[in-house]
Amino acid sequence: MSLLEVNNLKTYFYTLRGVVRAVDGISFHIDEGMAFGLAGESGCGKSTTALSIMGLIKDPGKIVDGEIVFEGEDLLKKTKEELNQIRWKKISMIFQGAMNAFNPVHRVGDQIVEAILYHENISREEAWEKAEKLLEMVGIDPSRAKNYPHEFSGGMKQRAMIAMALSCNPKLVIADEPTTALDVIVQKQVLDLMKELQKKLKLSIMLISHDLSVIAQMCDSVAIMYAGKIVEYADAISLFKEPQHPYSKGLINSFPNILNPGKKPESIPGQPPSLINPPPGCRFHPRCPFATDKCREVEPHLVNIGNKHFVACHLIGG
Ligand SMILES: Nc1ncnc2c1ncn2[C@@H]1O[C@H](COP(=O)(O)OP(=O)(O)O)[C@@H](O)[C@H]1O
Ligand SMILES: [Mg+2]
Repeated sequence: MSLLEVNNLKTYFYTLRGVVRAVDGISFHIDEGMAFGLAGESGCGKSTTALSIMGLIKDPGKIVDGEIVFEGEDLLKKTKEELNQIRWKKISMIFQGAMNAFNPVHRVGDQIVEAILYHENISREEAWEKAEKLLEMVGIDPSRAKNYPHEFSGGMKQRAMIAMALSCNPKLVIADEPTTALDVIVQKQVLDLMKELQKKLKLSIMLISHDLSVIAQMCDSVAIMYAGKIVEYADAISLFKEPQHPYSKGLINSFPNILNPGKKPESIPGQPPSLINPPPGCRFHPRCPFATDKCREVEPHLVNIGNKHFVACHLIGG
């Protein structure tokens, strides 16, 4: 049994301009101790997927279909109180842009203490000690708990965010673009830290990034998301070695390639479509150099092309 299984999840936003089908029928699973990567350009529905799992979709958003099965139970069938026992304690999240969310007028340690006290019934002194231990675990000198956020570098702030996400010993940590604002060297340090903690604490990780080189450094399995749907899903080795979907290939080519460092990155022309009126057929067809009439008319579904490598493209696998 997987730790988390998402089946046919659909999350829509009912806006005045129309229904935004941000997540439109996606399925994936994360096994215990594994790292799963969700990749795709901005606006493809990655954060909405994460927030759906956390039970944090707010008006005008609504989960309209699907299952989110965690440890064998569908979270979408749980009451608010039951969800509160799972959220943060079993599944925690590092939000996109979170490291800029520290309050500048409070010491970093106090902010971690507040997060701990929100979930745990312990004294402020005990929580402070715990905050120091957590900082130490993420490679920050515990004495720095007394510092204010502006005295922390970007990398340290992101480490502190990781510490906060780990404060209740979760089984699954969802990290939404955790390294996007950092330079490459610090990015690597933060990813190395996450990898180390994953092993030490036997964590499962869901890593969200628009940058496939980040996913490649960290993940065991990968789903590529485009316009609210998963277009390719495979174990990381086969996905990076033999990407099949033209979108996956384009995405891999648009970042410096660790397998082929001499190659110059090339971005995919155009941008993801509006999710109110996405293109018919394959949603990627307006940007796809290989599109045929069938691609413009018929929606492709994920097909197993062998070894659980799934691709949704008319040009592949028959
Ligand atoms: N609160 C919201 N209200 C309306 N539309 C939203 C809201 N949040 C996200 N969306 C839309 O949902 C789509 C997916 O967004 P998001 O999940 O943030 O994508 P990603 O994380 O891949 O960049 C986008 O079209 C975005 O504009
Ligand atoms: Mg996002």
